Amino acid sequence: MQQVTLGMIGGGTVGGGVYQALQSNGALLASRTGLRFKLKRIAVKAFDEPRKVEIPERLMTTDWRAVVDDPEVDIVIELAGGTGVARQMVLAALRRGKPVVTANKALLSAHGQELFRTAREHGANIYYEASVAGGIPIIKALREGFIGNRILSLYGIVNGTCNYILSRMQAEGAAFDGVLADAQRLGYAEAEPSLDVDGFDSMHKTGILASLAHGFWVEPEKIHVEGIRNISQLDMGFAGQLGYTIKLLGVVKKLPARGRRKGGNGGAVQVAVYPALVPNRHVLASVSDSFNAVFVQGDVVGDTLFYGRGAGQDPTASAVLGDLADAALDLKHQAPDRVPAFVPHDDEGAVAPLADCISRYYLRLSVSDKPGVLARVAAILAASKIGISSVMQPEGHGGEAIPLIMMIHDATNAAMAKALGQIRRLPVVKAPPVMIRVEDLD
Ligand code: HSE
Repeated sequence: MQQVTLGMIGGGTVGGGVYQALQSNGALLASRTGLRFKLKRIAVKAFDEPRKVEIPERLMTTDWRAVVDDPEVDIVIELAGGTGVARQMVLAALRRGKPVVTANKALLSAHGQELFRTAREHGANIYYEASVAGGIPIIKALREGFIGNRILSLYGIVNGTCNYILSRMQAEGAAFDGVLADAQRLGYAEAEPSLDVDGFDSMHKTGILASLAHGFWVEPEKIHVEGIRNISQLDMGFAGQLGYTIKLLGVVKKLPARGRRKGGNGGAVQVAVYPALVPNRHVLASVSDSFNAVFVQGDVVGDTLFYGRGAGQDPTASAVLGDLADAALDLKHQAPDRVPAFVPHDDEGAVAPLADCISRYYLRLSVSDKPGVLARVAAILAASKIGISSVMQPEGHGGEAIPLIMMIHDATNAAMAKALGQIRRLPVVKAPPVMIRVEDLD
């Protein structure tokens, strides 16, 4: 049986998971691919780091170049993380014509185009299933399964930490800070949680999915990002009363073509990350705890849903094993570009400015409980041609300011921002308005 020799950089949680999965399922992989996988070297930060999975010392080195430069290593697995040295590692492997398997979403988000170009120039390829939504094969679905579809919209719950926090806030009526502290204690959230809770990890993943879905590389700076720090128990509760659940979503939506070249691919694409009200009747509302899910609408296939664990040792190892099989078979068949890392197919593709993007909105105002307040707010919305679909002023909220909740019909973000600026200046409005977008997912 032909042998494929692997070199891995990173001996942490995911690296340990890949090592373990190769031990337990290497024979299965061999029987399915007709190839024997031999993990020859693993570059680690230090031999004596604490590890959940023990790695034999004879495999370890602290020199990543010894992995990349080893002439016997056919495929390099990059699991180091980060965007600095990891970029050097991946570029060095590609320049030697070696395929790279990576889980590094931050690296792809920041340097994807450079890495893909380098891969092409050196007859190599990059396999990155593990970079988005862990064990869910969404990259393969978009690049291969849906190759005959135009992707109309894609909504992803792609950050397990945020989904865990929001699920607990909803189930227990708990506050963000307390749940975050718990999540950190349980090891779900990092000690420095910003990458997750401020939406940047979701931004990396949503940008990769948007690029694959629409065939132009989405620069991270073009993605509007809002995290979940400002989601309150109050809004969770009111959203629940209205029949919605709040989820942090990666949103990728093709906007209708307007004034662009005839015969072209048409409208720009909304690419954004924000917390949104999702109707409880939609299956995404039931995705709870640290699970991920991606809902994709294709013009031929219709609605599809992918669900599973988005992070962690074993789900990520599962994605790496899938990529290793593809990389090894492509090497065997001398077809490194059988499925190119990224195929541009929309020359005119562009990310739509958020101001032009349209959605419904949930609005919570803190207002004086006086006659005429609702009329003044409604007058500003009416003057901006923004329609109200429902109003709720729950009783039992005494004091100087009471909550006034409105569900707003479709409007552009620009129109809403302008109207909210005016509403904020009304003397009867006692605090900055809370606005959360509503995604009906239909
Ligand atoms: N921290 C991420 C999450 C996993 O919570 O989903 C790695 O991208």
